Amino acid sequence: MERTFAIIKPNAFADGNSGKILSRIYAEGFKVVGLKKLYLSKVEAEGFYYVHKARPFFGELTDFMSSGPCIAMVLEAENAIQKWRDLMGATNPAQAAEGTLRREFGTSVGENATHGSDAPETAAFEIGYFFSGMELL
Ligand code: RTP
Ligand code: MG
Repeated sequence: MERTFAIIKPNAFADGNSGKILSRIYAEGFKVVGLKKLYLSKVEAEGFYYVHKARPFFGELTDFMSSGPCIAMVLEAENAIQKWRDLMGATNPAQAAEGTLRREFGTSVGENATHGSDAPETAAFEIGYFFSGMELL
């Protein structure tokens, strides 16, 4: 079993799509090990996305991620990291395959509805950034 870190981003939360996204998560067979609603500050969003700090979209990305509440989750499944990225689809909703979450709930490359870890090391960092061990029992 593997764990990954996921976010229902502020646009999807504000649009009332959190329930539909959670339904898809359960339907695909993930176990939801951790879940909480958060309203990130700009500094907290910058810390989360620090790997992108040199990228031209860093300011826009962290403004968006701190623009409203989101839902942070730890998902468990076999091959959870790749499985969750497959369910999300491509970063740009316009290029995401039919049936993926970003295709259905994303509105632009920035407001793309969901986040997912991209490797075991980033999953470990991201899970630890948002959750303590006792929150993942
Ligand atoms: P994420 O980390 O949010 O799961 O997305 P990802 O792996 O598919 O994409 P990544 O390259 O890690 O980029 C992180 C987030 O930055 C925004 N982005 N904007 N304006 C742009 O060209 C641009 N490129 C990326 C996206 O919201 C992406 O999810
Ligand atoms: Mg990424």
